[in-house]
Amino acid sequence: MSIISDDKDIKEIKKADKNVNIKPETIEYDKNFENTIRPKTFETYIGQSALKETLKISIEAAKKRELPLDHLLFYGPPGLGKTTLAGVIAEQMGVDIKITSAPALERPRDIIGILMSLKGGEILFIDEIHRLNRVAEEILYPAMEDFSLDMTTGKAQTVKTLRLPLPKFTLIGATTKAGALSGPLRDRFGIIHRLEFYTEDELTQVVKRTSSILDIAITEEGAKAIARRSRGTPRIANRLVKRVSDYALVKNNGKITEDIANKSLDILNIDDIGLDTTDRNLLKLIIEKFNGGPVGIETLAAALGEDVRTLEDVSEPYLLQIGFLQRTPRGRKVSPAACKHLGYKNFSEQQSLF
Ligand code: ADE
Repeated sequence: MSIISDDKDIKEIKKADKNVNIKPETIEYDKNFENTIRPKTFETYIGQSALKETLKISIEAAKKRELPLDHLLFYGPPGLGKTTLAGVIAEQMGVDIKITSAPALERPRDIIGILMSLKGGEILFIDEIHRLNRVAEEILYPAMEDFSLDMTTGKAQTVKTLRLPLPKFTLIGATTKAGALSGPLRDRFGIIHRLEFYTEDELTQVVKRTSSILDIAITEEGAKAIARRSRGTPRIANRLVKRVSDYALVKNNGKITEDIANKSLDILNIDDIGLDTTDRNLLKLIIEKFNGGPVGIETLAAALGEDVRTLEDVSEPYLLQIGFLQRTPRGRKVSPAACKHLGYKNFSEQQSLF
């Protein structure tokens, strides 16, 4: 059984990553966790290989032209590394990054303040950019297009527009809902990329890397077991590493093996393909109460006592990806594969209902 802390690849990853020389005792198990394990370079950022290659070219070209990178939009389900990638780009461009999110830019002065604080070449990262309000969007248009801030003063006949120059900057927007972005805002991004779910092999590497940074002993099979149940999402994989390592500490002197990982994930009610209680309840509800669907998302959210946005952004993307759920104009439908996975005996009868 190979213990990953001896793994040569991991040692190389550690060398390449600037932020990994952190002693385990200094790691706070809180919201800083994600920042602690965030890769800082393309070499240590696992997965999204096609995207990384095109980004490297764009970065090289921008550097040769001595201009900031074009404005970039990343879209895709949560937890796939959009913020992390923005940090890697900043590192690669050798510039600072300011990170905010659309709900924090409610008042005009919030967006004006942040734009005026930018220095030449800096990156402004706006998460959940589809949630920007109209006023903030309109302030952003000339800022993105001409690097200027159009301010109005006075009222009615005395109204004056003042155009203030801004330093050249790069806006990186991230969204889980590309379709919810207004057309004019979307058109102002030079580069638009979708982030894909990770393969099991890629997630295994993520689990091994995170365990190594946190000095957690884990076997190859233990890493695979966690990866298999992480729904294609590194953020979930990293959270599960934490949970499983707690269990391993109590039950197995801290070492994560396949058996320890499986037992611990079973206790957490995460099934063998990574579905959690909410996912299973959603599918069961559609099967048992709505004959497999179609049924509207609002009805499902009300019946489950969940927020529509949580269902749409957190539960649905992976269920759609693995073909367990379908979106139709009349609502959500489950697939025969989902029925089979959930162990419905009358699966063939159920199928005829769809
Ligand atoms: N942690 C979160 N996302 C990651 C990624 N893409 N590569 C490595 N570690 C990660």
